[in-house]
Amino acid sequence: MTALDIRHYDHHQAADIRQLLLDVYAEVYAEAAKTDPFATVDRFAKGLDGWSRRDGWTCVVGYDQDQSVGYAYGAPLPAGAPWWGGLLTEVPADVVEETGTRTYALSELMVRLPWRKTGTARQLHDALLKDRPEERATLLVDQEHPKVHALYESWGWQTLGDLRPRIPDAPLFHAMLLDLPQH
Ligand SMILES: CC(C)(COP(=O)(O)OP(=O)(O)OC[C@H]1O[C@@H](n2cnc3c(N)ncnc32)[C@H](O)[C@@H]1OP(=O)(O)O)[C@@H](O)C(=O)NCCC(=O)NCCS
Repeated sequence: MTALDIRHYDHHQAADIRQLLLDVYAEVYAEAAKTDPFATVDRFAKGLDGWSRRDGWTCVVGYDQDQSVGYAYGAPLPAGAPWWGGLLTEVPADVVEETGTRTYALSELMVRLPWRKTGTARQLHDALLKDRPEERATLLVDQEHPKVHALYESWGWQTLGDLRPRIPDAPLFHAMLLDLPQH
């Protein structure tokens, strides 16, 4: 395995990499999609298009000798973000108050099987969040995937509470937060 080449994209390039992102998703979530309607490529494509349409959308794709190995993407939450709408845990109102510049949402992180446990996932995660101007990041992790939850905790993320997005078939998630270094 050679050194990972990480390339950065923004919403202007979303159409160029859309098929690549869908292909990697289809491979990574093939097993899950057999039984979980939330994991189908069609549903994911709708979500991807919604996210990548946003001005602030950013994406990193990892390449190993020009082979795509995984990616991560997200965008800042807008003021009054629906992101927190499905939060089931009571928290002080200011914790979920969004200004449009306060929080970067890490929407997706996935790595193809041969590149798991190689540090690739962490490198993509770090590259996506590096130099972000927001004070914090947030992500949602499926409560049925405790090992992924533990992985994020080992990377410094803290659990805020339970959240079920108001989307059909959405699972119950842990909502997590990570303080971002201030520049
Ligand atoms: C999450 C991910 C990027 C982490 O990659 P990594 O740092 O190389 O770590 P691993 O793949 O070893 O994952 C850590 C553990 O979580 C488990 N895990 C990973 N994804 C999982 C999933 N979707 N469902 C259930 N368990 C999962 C792994 O089996 C592993 O368990 P193990 O230590 O017993 O082998 C990678 O596992 C992945 O792409 N998973 C599928 C997509 C996904 O679930 N993304 C996270 C969305 S919040």
